[in-house]
Amino acid sequence: KMEQTFIMIKPDGVQRGLVGDIISRFEKKGFYLKGLKFINVDRPFAEKHYEDLSAKPFFSGLVDYIISGPVVAMIWEGKNVILTGRKIIGATNPAESAPGTIRGDYAIEIGRNIIHGSDSAESARKEIALWFPDGPANWQSSVHHWIYE
Ligand code: CMP
Repeated sequence: KMEQTFIMIKPDGVQRGLVGDIISRFEKKGFYLKGLKFINVDRPFAEKHYEDLSAKPFFSGLVDYIISGPVVAMIWEGKNVILTGRKIIGATNPAESAPGTIRGDYAIEIGRNIIHGSDSAESARKEIALWFPDGPANWQSSVHHWIYE
């Protein structure tokens, strides 16, 4: 099934210089980059993104972490990209994520796990709408337009 998912490289992933590697893994798998922003988000925005976790004891620490520096917010598209994207990312707790996955290769701490990916079609829709309220930039159609005009 053709799908879109929301993927965010968290501040530790940006700070550690993993942006290129992470984008490359999704590109080489065959997924299409449909939107990308390099941004700092504020506390209310981060709280909104993680609103389902607001009762968790780690919630305020999680929000502190996400607002600690710029993040890379992306929309990726492709067949089964929601589930397959989560396989590329690896288990939430880096202690359980397999080597070969992003977290398995680069993370140790659950509280510094480098990357986020939507966990269902419903969260993908909600997260894309929150992070890309104006719709994604579509570089494919603009490149196509530029070549063939
Ligand atoms: P993510 O995939 O962004 O979804 C929710 C996030 O909460 C998760 O990655 C972790 O960054 C964070 N998280 C989940 N469980 C814990 C925990 N026990 N302690 C700290 N952070 C957590």
